[in-house]
Amino acid sequence: MAAIKIIVQNLSLQYSDGTESLRDINLDIPANNITVLFGPAGGGKSSLLRCLNRLNDLTEVQTITGKILLDGENILDPKTDVIALRRRVGMVFARPVVLPMSIRQNLTYGLELAGEKHKSKLEEAVERSLKLAALWEEVKDRLEEAAVALSGGQQQRLCLARVLANQPEVILLDEPTSGLDPISTGKVEAALQELKKNYTIILVPHSVQQAARTADFAAFFLQGELVEAAEGKEIFTHPKEKRTEDYVEGRFG
Ligand SMILES: Nc1ncnc2c1ncn2[C@@H]1O[C@H](COP(=O)(O)OP(=O)(O)OP(=O)(O)O)[C@@H](O)[C@H]1O
Ligand SMILES: [Mg+2]
Repeated sequence: MAAIKIIVQNLSLQYSDGTESLRDINLDIPANNITVLFGPAGGGKSSLLRCLNRLNDLTEVQTITGKILLDGENILDPKTDVIALRRRVGMVFARPVVLPMSIRQNLTYGLELAGEKHKSKLEEAVERSLKLAALWEEVKDRLEEAAVALSGGQQQRLCLARVLANQPEVILLDEPTSGLDPISTGKVEAALQELKKNYTIILVPHSVQQAARTADFAAFFLQGELVEAAEGKEIFTHPKEKRTEDYVEGRFG
């Protein structure tokens, strides 16, 4: 049994307009695995993902209760160093947002902001993160070119590499392949399978098929409620709850 990296305890989140998007969520997220959060639109998946690196600090006034323990420490504590947290817990979004700079600068920018000046360290981070994101072979001879000139699939892997350059412990991905063709999607999924050996990965997939393909563990969210969480091979073949079964078998959503 894998060590538990994150424990979500009695987490509830209400937006200022009264929308209760998470209701008393309890979830253990194992280290070195891919945990998939899946379910129909509006279920609360992105809201939970944003809580995990305090990105929701930037959204509407809201009420959050409960705890999120990262290696035993409650990251919702007001004393949490949010910048440091976001290095430990990086996020990749549905649409790649590359910086209007070269491929190389996209990767070194964050490290330079954090005070890294050694050229060799930066070089090493560029190569290491591009290799981890399965992009190195495609871009190693064009690192000075503008990142915006890359294809969508390449830009998404560059965003993953940018997160990896910060040497995070946890990687959050919110529908990272929703805009990609099947080949690019396959490359991202293959990269995640490699990465899970050293990172804790939490993925909101863009389809039930992707959920079933990638999940070591999976949690099914419906209207702010965590209906069921189990090992991937359990939940997609023998769900315990009727609501999970209906969704997995495509009867709604
Ligand atoms: N910034 C916000 N302000 C107010 N309500 C919000 C905000 N963000 C999300 N919500 C509401 O919270 C609920 C959960 O939304 P969330 O985006 O977490 O769902 P989701 O599971 O990620 O859905 P999708 O599959 O469509 O991405 C929805 O009812 C949504 O309208
Ligand atoms: Mg979402």
